[in-house]
Amino acid sequence: MNDLKANLRSAQKEVDKTIKSLLPFGKGIEKKLFEAINYSILSSGKRLRPFLVIQSSKLFDVSEKSALRVASSIEMIHSYSLIHDDLPSMDNDDLRRGLLTTHKKYNEATAILAGDSLLTLSFQVLSDTLTHSDPRIRCDLINELAKAAGAYGMVGGQMMDLEAENKKLSIGAITRIQMLKTGALIAYACNSGAIMGRAEKKEKFSLQGYAHDIGLAYQIRDDLLDVTSTEKELGKKVNKDKKAGKKNFVSILGKERAKKQLEFLGNQAIKHLEVFDDKANLLREVARFIVERDR
Ligand code: IPE
Ligand code: IPE
Ligand code: MG
Ligand code: MG
Ligand code: MG
Repeated sequence: MNDLKANLRSAQKEVDKTIKSLLPFGKGIEKKLFEAINYSILSSGKRLRPFLVIQSSKLFDVSEKSALRVASSIEMIHSYSLIHDDLPSMDNDDLRRGLLTTHKKYNEATAILAGDSLLTLSFQVLSDTLTHSDPRIRCDLINELAKAAGAYGMVGGQMMDLEAENKKLSIGAITRIQMLKTGALIAYACNSGAIMGRAEKKEKFSLQGYAHDIGLAYQIRDDLLDVTSTEKELGKKVNKDKKAGKKNFVSILGKERAKKQLEFLGNQAIKHLEVFDDKANLLREVARFIVERDR
């Protein structure tokens, strides 16, 4: 795990450097927008999705520069999703990554526009020849991210999450919500290395299986932390899901059974990596981290 922590930290530094170099800046009349974008994305996120891009890229010897640009573009989408997730009309949260949420720090309109900017910037970065020299690969990266982030992916999942508040839902329906709202972007992060590295079918399927399991596990851990952790540790408000009537594995199965499911998924994720050699060791560590993480 120490190995993973050090690697996560160094990836975080590299990714933040790349993100900084890609963000808009200026002193014009719209400068509040640029400040809000910086404020939200450069705060202390774990950068887990970028790390998955970097590690899946390493399996296929993808260039570091390509990996870092794709890693940055997924963090842009993730940060936009958090800014919008926190809005009063969605989860109505005041605290994110230990700071005031973007709409509290600035205002609602600025937060919406900062999210919009990050969403569009992400695709601008992917379409740039600097990201990859092969136009077919750039196009696949864009197409897959659009699907993962859109109405059949993260955004669709967010809609279901809101619609499900205070409703009775089956475990199958809940699994689908979590897979889409959180799993889809995580799956894209794992898949992006395979796209850039022109992976074989067998390798692609293995990574997909891994991504499926850690994506679901990641949200179960988030839902558990909401009931077991503290605001100080998480940098966001706790005990908010029950108050909002959210439906998730913890509210349906209870803490203990949700934990069992989480452990099962973590172990299963690691099994999917059998086709890869030691190069996948950090991905194995990531699965363990997801099961055990405290923040
Ligand atoms: C929070 O994501 C929202 C979920 C999808 C669970 P993270 O826990 O990855 O948030 P940051 O990026 O580290 O702040
Ligand atoms: C958010 O899930 C998933 C997203 C797509 C942003 P949550 O609403 O549970 O995330 P937190 O707890 O606010 O970080
Ligand atoms: Mg939410
Ligand atoms: Mg939320
Ligand atoms: Mg949550």
